[in-house]
Amino acid sequence: MIVANWKMNGTWASLEALASEIKLFTPDLDPQVVVCAPSPYIASLSKLNLPFALGGQDCSSHPQGAFTGEVSAPMLKDCGAEFVLIGHSERRLYHHESEELLKEKYQRALESGLTPILCAGETLEERNQNITFKVIEDQLKLIESTHQPAIIAYEPRWAIGTGLIPTNNEIKEILHAIRDHLPMSVKLLYGGSVTGDNASELKNIPGLNGLLVGGASLKAHEFRKIVNAWM
Ligand code: PGA
Repeated sequence: MIVANWKMNGTWASLEALASEIKLFTPDLDPQVVVCAPSPYIASLSKLNLPFALGGQDCSSHPQGAFTGEVSAPMLKDCGAEFVLIGHSERRLYHHESEELLKEKYQRALESGLTPILCAGETLEERNQNITFKVIEDQLKLIESTHQPAIIAYEPRWAIGTGLIPTNNEIKEILHAIRDHLPMSVKLLYGGSVTGDNASELKNIPGLNGLLVGGASLKAHEFRKIVNAWM
């Protein structure tokens, strides 16, 4: 599974063009490709009959109501999304999203029939303090009780958009620890500075089911290399 996170980039013209390019190399099934697009464009993208699935980048912790500017999980679903990112590190960092809030968002996603992609990962400081496992364990507590479909993306914060990336062995150890707590049906992704050049190397990590790609998903030729590497 390859998940693209377009973040708050582009305009309709540029993203429609990008979607059309991605369409040309997206396989129907393997790897499954999901594009997490900016909310205002999800409905229009879903009308293009694209071979890849769509996702939101965040959803409200409320199902509806007087919450100006928020986008609810049912709205994303209505617009054609099947997935939603929950707890991306940029949300945790810039919007101070707490575990309590993320638990609510996670529940709203499931109630609406969206598959949540829960992001977890340590900061550089936490890594240097050797508390990576504890940090991730705490971030994943909110899904332990559920048996519904879910995806976990391990995204070390220090690797996002920096060009830095953990070794395959380090990723393998984290995935192993995460897997200990979760049923096999939960898919595990890695995200953080994935490129066309390192995607095939990452495929060698046992237990890894896919990638979450930020910057490299905005360049069709780069994204194509990533998808091809996982075919
Ligand atoms: P990056 O971002 O691939 O640009 O490091 C990943 C992400 O933010 O999900």
